[in-house]
Parts: sequence; structure tokens; C-alpha cells
Amino acid sequence: MKRIKVFAPASVANMGCGFDVMGMAMDATGDILDVSIEDGHGLEIINNSGIDLPQNIEKNVITPAVMSFLAEYGSHMKIKIIVEKKIAPGSGIGSSAASSSAAVFALNELLGRPFSDLKLVEFAMEGEKLISGGVAHADNVAPSIMGGVVFIRGYKPLDIVKLPVPENFHCSVVHPDIMVSTKMAREVMPKEIPVRDAVKQWGNVGGLVAGLVLGDVPLIGRSMVDVVAEPYRRGFIPGFEILRDKVLKAGALAMNISGSGPSVFAVSEDEQTAKNIASIMKEHFSFLNIKSDTYTANVSEKGARIL
Ligand code: HSE
Repeated sequence: MKRIKVFAPASVANMGCGFDVMGMAMDATGDILDVSIEDGHGLEIINNSGIDLPQNIEKNVITPAVMSFLAEYGSHMKIKIIVEKKIAPGSGIGSSAASSSAAVFALNELLGRPFSDLKLVEFAMEGEKLISGGVAHADNVAPSIMGGVVFIRGYKPLDIVKLPVPENFHCSVVHPDIMVSTKMAREVMPKEIPVRDAVKQWGNVGGLVAGLVLGDVPLIGRSMVDVVAEPYRRGFIPGFEILRDKVLKAGALAMNISGSGPSVFAVSEDEQTAKNIASIMKEHFSFLNIKSDTYTANVSEKGARIL
């Protein structure tokens, strides 16, 4: 029997303007999986998290990710996965991605690394397809596997660029205890966008990438404006606009929805401001009688790893 314990970090997808094309890894939390390969064949998933997961194995994001890995690997085996989830599903900080990324990363390690990181991203995307209503996006699984900030230049073929992260790039993240499914958050978006909105959005994506490469955090901040998804999604987050006013007044450079929400993240140029903003976020939801978890985190350069 071969056995391994791995961790895959949480992630912030979209980073404001980069719907489905930008994402960053965040070490503050993540999922831990204990994966073993035994003789025989079949997949067993044991939930050891204290967080409810689908009873039906077909509805667990790990299943399609592992199945696509095995289909390409081309041999049967018995896989047992004990899941210790630290991120609640539907949180907007890459909960499903952390589990499917950890699963394919662990299998790859156990089998002597037959696949590249890019291939692992493709396998893990099958889990995202399951929860997003049929569209496989890579902006959570790619940072969760590869670490850092990633830019997905294209999907067919998958073309991922890892970008540098300035030292003075500090994030505050709040996860309010409400549930927004990725599927629902994608369904509220229009199928088409006006050209004037597309122009704003691709200007901002260019600004975000340039800001990261040039180490210009204010440029990153002013590029984190989303006219494509946020107008349709912010209604899921109580007091979103009020909270944004508060955190911008407190010195944040930008505040956006993390992935499909309900988590929200802000960017600051120093750690003390980031901590202060995390407290403002917590107070905001507490005032609304909503429990929340907050994190202040730098981008995690490491992605999935062996524990
Ligand atoms: N890019 C995806 C979305 C991320 O915004 O729907 C989901 O976490």
C-alpha cells in the first residue's frame, strides 16, 4: 500500500476583474487529504471534516477529478481518500478546488509524478465543472496546485502563466457564514456583455497583470474593478457597497468579491492596514448578525504540497 498526506491551499479567483482568468493561492486555510492506493479497484471517500459533504460519491468534486486522472493514467487501482476539509463548500475561497487539487496532486506523487502541473489542473477542473453547472474554470484549481498568482491566458489549449507578486501586496479576506453556490452565481450573469464593458474589463485585466509584473501595487488596486460579474453578484452579499466604502476609507486599494462569493477580499500595501481591514470586515457582518471568519494573508508561493 502507498499512502500520503497532502495539503492544498484556498484561493481567491477572479481577483476582481479577471473573471475565470486570474487567481491566487492563499495559505491561511486549505484542505488536507490522506490518500492511499491499495490492490483492487474503486474509489472510497471518507469525510473526516465535521463539514457536511455530499453522501453520494458521484456528487463529490473529488470523484470526477480522480476519474479523469485515472482515465489518462490508464490503469485501475483502489483509492481511499480521507478528507479533512477546512474550507466550507460554497465559501468563495476555492473550497471544491482545494479538495480536487489535493486529490490529483496526491495521486501524482504516489505514482511517481507521471503528469505535469498543467495536466493536474486539467484533471482538477473536472471537479469545478461539476459544481459550476458544466463549465470547467481553472482560476481556483491552478493556484491551488501551482501556488502564487496565475493568469489563464487561454483554455483551449490550457495556457497558464505564473506571475510575480510584489512584497507589499497584502490581502484581507472575510468569509461570511452564508452560502452562495458557484452554479447560482454563474446563472445570474448575462450571456453577453456590451462592448463598452468589455473594454473596461480588458483594460483592467491588462492593468492587473502589468501591476503584478511591475510591482506596482496601486496600479493593481485601481485595476481591480469588475463590471462583468460583480454587478450581478453583489446582491448576494449583505451590505457589500457599504463595506467597500468602509474598507476603502480605511486605506485598502480595492475590495472585490472572492470568486463567486460570498467571501470578499481587499488589497492593501501594508500588513497593519490589512489587519485593520479584516477587523472592519468582521464587525460589518457581526453588525448584520452574520458570523464570519477573517484572514489576513500574503499570496502563498507554494501550491499543493506533501505534509
Ligand atoms: N471564476 C469563477 C466564478 C470562480 O467567478 O464563477 C468560482 O469560484
